[in-house]
Amino acid sequence: MTFTWEKYLQEKLIDEETLSIRIKELGRQISQDYRHRDLLLICILKGGVMFLTDLMRQITIPHEIDFLAVSSYGKGVRRSTGVVRIVKDLDQPIAGRDVLIVEDIVDSGHTLQYITRNLATRGPASLKICTLLDKADRREVDIEVDYVGFNIPDKFVFGFGLDVDQKFRELPFIGVVKPDVVID
Ligand code: IMP
Ligand code: MG
Repeated sequence: MTFTWEKYLQEKLIDEETLSIRIKELGRQISQDYRHRDLLLICILKGGVMFLTDLMRQITIPHEIDFLAVSSYGKGVRRSTGVVRIVKDLDQPIAGRDVLIVEDIVDSGHTLQYITRNLATRGPASLKICTLLDKADRREVDIEVDYVGFNIPDKFVFGFGLDVDQKFRELPFIGVVKPDVVID
């Protein structure tokens, strides 16, 4: 059986050029806001990886990167429950660093709430969040997101790092998954 992304695609939501223009703007803004600061980008694996690599090429000030992988337990594979576990921790301490979390999407907010609470206990000089996509309508917990690429409607999306059943992260655009192929 072969799966192609076309089978899952209802519509393209954000094309390659629109993504690249917005990421350039975010990079410029972050470069201004963090000039003379000790910027450390923390990418949340795996979804944030394509956004991270594009964003860092648009950041014109010196910075470092690190990676954090979390998994959330849940009954539905496409809904997070707030029960989050770190499966790959950072390589280095973040005490005194200006930390910017780089995430693909904020949905209910449970994942980022767990991550920010956890990282805050490690004593960073500052801790902010940059997300490519924000589904604000679905927020269940109050978290402050400092940089948002795009506000999107309550639809399950894939591509540009985001997966549908672990696949199609490689697509250069953000697409909406056809509702009839959503499992939960
Ligand atoms: P939250 O804890 O509900 O905010 O969920 C955040 C995580 O759920 C993200 O980091 C994604 O991994 C995943 N997620 C939420 N919405 C989508 C989506 O539309 N497509 C793909 N993954 C999603
Ligand atoms: Mg994610």
